[in-house]
Amino acid sequence: GIENHLRPRTLDEYIGQQKAKDMLRVYIEAAKSRGESLDHVLFYGPPGLGKTTLAGILANEMGSELKITAGPAIEKPGEMAAILNNLNDGDILFVDEIHRLNRQVEEVLYPAMEDYAIDIVIGKGASARSIRLDLPHFTLVGATTRAGLLTAPLRDRFGVVHHLEFYTEEELLSIILRSAKVLQVEIEEEGARQIASRSRGTPRLANRFLKRVRDFAQVRYDGVITAEVASDALDLLDVDPLGLDYTDRKVLLTMIEKFGGGPVGLDTLAAALCEDVGTLEDVYEPYLLKNGFINRTPRGRTVTKRAYHHLGLPFLEDTEA
Ligand code: ADE
Repeated sequence: GIENHLRPRTLDEYIGQQKAKDMLRVYIEAAKSRGESLDHVLFYGPPGLGKTTLAGILANEMGSELKITAGPAIEKPGEMAAILNNLNDGDILFVDEIHRLNRQVEEVLYPAMEDYAIDIVIGKGASARSIRLDLPHFTLVGATTRAGLLTAPLRDRFGVVHHLEFYTEEELLSIILRSAKVLQVEIEEEGARQIASRSRGTPRLANRFLKRVRDFAQVRYDGVITAEVASDALDLLDVDPLGLDYTDRKVLLTMIEKFGGGPVGLDTLAAALCEDVGTLEDVYEPYLLKNGFINRTPRGRTVTKRAYHHLGLPFLEDTEA
């Protein structure tokens, strides 16, 4: 949750996503100097890259409250209306997995986002009429894995749309060193680097690994996180030197063993893995694509030479003399 004390509270403390930070700083200062609420913001990108953290920072920097909910948690239009009605001017409503709101609930958001109002229908049949209820001037911060998952009318109502990127190893290194300070655990730079290089560009993983490595350092060693401690602990956690975990490797191995390395369609691959297509595409695939383990072709996904080598398997070309 947002109470996690490793989360930065200000844009200055926040490491990485430089472009998002630069732009948000301008929007915050402009809105504040006009005495207005911030325009609605949509963050999209793979999980664990800081969408919730940024929502918390926006609230903190605007001096307002943050309310957190998620698409699947709101089932009825009346529930959404109640949440909106209970906000105060300037508050941030963070809706995670916003693409999973059902149609009727989503429709409550249209006038709410555009005019800070909701239309309530009273009565039935011929005597039904609609009354407009004014809402506080809130800011909606939506999060999703892919912007394309949103309906056009919802997406178009966000004034700011930002894609979150995977973090560089140097950025993750800084985050781990900062977190180690907060957790008051002694860490050597090479220890932090081991964790950074295996965290798949994702701060959530980096912080999770840091905590697990700290446990090992404390129980099996003298409490200091060195490169050796970090690498031993992460090996035991089944995180390989390039950060691939059990599922990542299973994706690659299935493509190789069942589909001759591809091309294989995403639906077919998901079925073979007993995995949800959306999860495969939004959670596992982005990092594998970004790091050159798989390619997207018009006929489907293919495994790269780099992946074969990483898994210790011969690539066909290698064996041809
Ligand atoms: N902890 C998690 N994400 C972070 C970030 N982007 N900057 C600093 N600390 C973090």
